Amino acid sequence: MDKFEVMVTRRLPAGGMELLGESCRPRLWDEDRPAPEEWMRKNAAGADGIVCLLSDRIDEAMMEAAGPGLKVISVMAAGYDGIDVEAATQRGVLVGNTPGVLSEATADLTWALILAVARRIVDGDRMMRAGTFTGWSPTLLVGADFAGRRLGIVGMGRIGREVARRGIGFGMEVVYHNRHRLAPEVEKSIPTHLVPLNELIASSDFIALHCPLNKESYHLLGANELASMKPTAYLINIARGPVVDEDALVAALRDRRIAGAALDVYEHEPNLTPGLAELDNVVLAPHLGSAAVATRHRMAQMTVENLLAGMRGGVPPWCVNPEAKQA
Ligand code: DGY
Repeated sequence: MDKFEVMVTRRLPAGGMELLGESCRPRLWDEDRPAPEEWMRKNAAGADGIVCLLSDRIDEAMMEAAGPGLKVISVMAAGYDGIDVEAATQRGVLVGNTPGVLSEATADLTWALILAVARRIVDGDRMMRAGTFTGWSPTLLVGADFAGRRLGIVGMGRIGREVARRGIGFGMEVVYHNRHRLAPEVEKSIPTHLVPLNELIASSDFIALHCPLNKESYHLLGANELASMKPTAYLINIARGPVVDEDALVAALRDRRIAGAALDVYEHEPNLTPGLAELDNVVLAPHLGSAAVATRHRMAQMTVENLLAGMRGGVPPWCVNPEAKQA
């Protein structure tokens, strides 16, 4: 039997390449940096499937370069904002992603970032390495309390709900904003309740962003929203960079209009918005949300399962546009 032709924009971990190699001929970008667009365009030509990362742009032109044989695009991520899903659907190309499996790891990292910025872990680490710690002091690197404070979650999908549960564990009150209200029994089980976005922004001590990036969420937090936050509040973005207007965030942090921020994603990822790196009230992580061993293994497997199902004429088990099958 002929093998499927597949463009793969990064080597998959956890035996993913071996699994793929059983029935596919991978055209692999085997460097640990993003595949150049030129390379992708060339290697997409005539492919049955594409395996890509969240940072790859798979737009209509790339699908056009692949040609009419392209059946499936499988992204190793929960977020699929790098793919023009509308164009894919119109062309009958299925898009698979890896939801659910990374919710706990991403929620854990959200909490790592909250704790790092609000309890000044990074400042403390720098101090220890510089040898400037001279002994316990009542005023040394004093950060925020959590118990009794309000955690506001924007985007209450699977990750948001896991972050909420952890917040309850820290003794916090948890409110959320979402396109749809959660089922009453889910709200009760956390517990949490829906509030309007402006109320969440103005009243929360910690704001954690977990919404997908789309037209509605682009710059959801801009200068006005940042100005309405409490001066003692912290912003955590582990969703997608462009959800926050980072120029406005740099200004708010520099002028101490908010207490701090922690970011795992960036508006111009992988580049930093000018001014961000100079600030001492922000913690910066290199998009580590799902970076835990078992999580990444499962993501790699799901990516291959989605790819194979789509190329064999089925619908990927985790598919964002099953309607493409009928297109
Ligand atoms: C995703 O899968 O969308 C996450 O951003 C990966 O960490």
